[in-house]
Amino acid sequence: MMNKEVHIFADLEALSRAAAERFIRLAELAIAERGCFHVALTGGSTPRRMYEYLASDRYMNHVVWPSVYIYFGDERCVPPDHPDSNFRMAHEALLRHVPIPSLQVHRMQGEQNPAEAAAAYAQLLDSQLPKSARDMPRFDLVLLGLGEDGHIASLFPGTVGLTIQDQFAVANFVEKLSTWRISLTFPVINAGTVIMMLVAGAAKADIVNRIMGEDGQAPRLPAQRIVPAGILEWYLDGAAARLTEHHTS
Ligand code: 6PG
Repeated sequence: MMNKEVHIFADLEALSRAAAERFIRLAELAIAERGCFHVALTGGSTPRRMYEYLASDRYMNHVVWPSVYIYFGDERCVPPDHPDSNFRMAHEALLRHVPIPSLQVHRMQGEQNPAEAAAAYAQLLDSQLPKSARDMPRFDLVLLGLGEDGHIASLFPGTVGLTIQDQFAVANFVEKLSTWRISLTFPVINAGTVIMMLVAGAAKADIVNRIMGEDGQAPRLPAQRIVPAGILEWYLDGAAARLTEHHTS
């Protein structure tokens, strides 16, 4: 059984506050231990409020931002100022508000050729991140969201990206969206010391219940292929956990 914790909060506000506080604590521990904190941000809508909390007067000064190194779990193949860009969302909600050196923010270059951008990102991870015991680039924290189809990052069901074991990042064609994405691969995600899965809203209740209920069985969904070397921490609101409380007691 994997190392897993499940935290359930009243709503997205409470989840976001708790997730921001966990980010602060993990940054504190990593910086105390090694002088830096390497974190992969997730895109989507769920994490925005957490990012806004981290940028708020109440929380901002609890992080030593000059020791933080920002990466992304995935990116859409659009320019960084495009409404769909994960970088743009994180920049608006967090990165433009905190004193983090711009050279320490590593976005995936969604405006480039996907395969070239993925290869360049893999090279960056290899050169910038410490290595795990299995010689994989190791994040201190990987933030993830969960799609209703069980995808994480841009590793969607039925896509080639799910199978990649010998690359750190991949250009992944997503048939159902008719679009390319850039994504970290499972070996890098799973090498993370802490993986935080942020899931909120009634629309996610079914997929959360399915994943929790099938815990320990052969993985059929991308999210079930998360087998962390460290720990997987679920941050759920009550609506997303509605069907699964009995699994999480
Ligand atoms: C993305 C994300 C993706 C997201 C899930 C959940 O690029 O969209 O990385 O994996 O986390 O689709 O998205 P929501 O938080 O918007 O539900």
